[in-house]
Amino acid sequence: MSTLAETKVIQFDRSKLLPESLRDDFPILQQKVHGDRPLVFLDNGASTQRPRQVIDVLRRVYERDYANVHRGIHTLSERSTEQYEEAREKVRAFIGAKHAREVIFTQGTTASINTVARSWGDANLHAGDEIVLTTMEHHSNLVPWQQLAERTGVVLRHIPITDDGLLMLDEFDRLLTAKTKLVAIASVSNVLGTINPVAEIARRAHAAGALVLVDAAQSVPHQATDVQALGADFLAFSGHKMLGPSGIGVLYGREELLDAMPPFLGGGSMINRVYLDRFTPAELPAKFEAGTPPIAPAIALGAAIDYLQALGMDAVEQHEHELVRYAYERLQEIDGLTILGPTPEHRASLVSFTLRQPHPHDVAQLLDQQGIAVRAGHHCTQPLHDRLGITASTRASFYLYNTPAEVDLLVDTVRQIQDRFKPQGRQRQPKSPTK
Ligand SMILES: Cc1ncc(COP(=O)(O)O)c(C=O)c1O
Repeated sequence: MSTLAETKVIQFDRSKLLPESLRDDFPILQQKVHGDRPLVFLDNGASTQRPRQVIDVLRRVYERDYANVHRGIHTLSERSTEQYEEAREKVRAFIGAKHAREVIFTQGTTASINTVARSWGDANLHAGDEIVLTTMEHHSNLVPWQQLAERTGVVLRHIPITDDGLLMLDEFDRLLTAKTKLVAIASVSNVLGTINPVAEIARRAHAAGALVLVDAAQSVPHQATDVQALGADFLAFSGHKMLGPSGIGVLYGREELLDAMPPFLGGGSMINRVYLDRFTPAELPAKFEAGTPPIAPAIALGAAIDYLQALGMDAVEQHEHELVRYAYERLQEIDGLTILGPTPEHRASLVSFTLRQPHPHDVAQLLDQQGIAVRAGHHCTQPLHDRLGITASTRASFYLYNTPAEVDLLVDTVRQIQDRFKPQGRQRQPKSPTK
């Protein structure tokens, strides 16, 4: 049974994405908040919204097709299993993996990275081995390696960033030695928006004999991804940041690496044979999918991929690029506003900033009163904020349904907030990468 059979067929103009024509697909975006304020959702870096096509698939699975997968010899289990494996194949094609068995369903990016740290890291790394990370990583790509370092004595190194929020590749070359076993980097920074040169970094890492893990949480939803062209040995991302449900994510790993890795979580489904005192693991991908997986979320992630594919990832990227360029230019007009990170050429679809006054939390709260949802805080990047000499920032992050009119509203409202809090005397500017 095809999951697509009853899903509304979507046809878009793939040469140009028109967000206004998509918005009807997103029921949640139709609402008003705080009385009569139309919702302007600019917190997509944290989690996106879902179109009807994804919600419908979730409902259909639960209303008609749901049973546990790979277990029952009955109609519903066969339907669920078939759709679950179809979703895996959609992910494979979406990221350009060679085999569907290289696609492991996890809970999300965090779970994927922890799986590599626990399974590959514990089995292969020893005291004195080195892992190269960057200063701009999300805590999800720092803490699992810190925990690994505590367990094994592995040494962590970090590629520093320039004041413009770009990686210092000369420093990377200096850090890369025969001791380096893994380079783990974000493809796009969730705060600076920096698009990192992953393929070039992977090329240099491989030349030094190291493997490469890509935290692609902020890139897979926004641009075409080809794990083979990138040279990724492992790649992690989350369904909820790309129109899919929460609770589902992906770990891609090269087959020979996954094959050689011991399973991390033990339990049902991940075994071939169990005796009272031992077990033999299942083949890929089941080896890394212990217990009942997120069945309906995985199938609905397949529907999210259908939606994105129908739009065309190039059109999505182009639209977001234009939007972020516009937001960058307009926000720059505001006196006392500092944009974190690089110029739009090097930037994906988000802009983080600080104001001289008030604090980012107050900015987010005042924006919310006007119906504009943004994120404020350290965005799970405390070391990056330390580097920038600030404790928090405000982030507007865009997706395919956002419009230039929403950017205008954001900018006008930020300007009003700034005016309201205009300092009486001169204030010290926070030290941070400049516009
Ligand atoms: C760059 C990056 N890595 C990892 C994560 C963690 O993703 P999740 O919470 O879905 O595991 C995020 C989420 O914001 C992120 O932006």
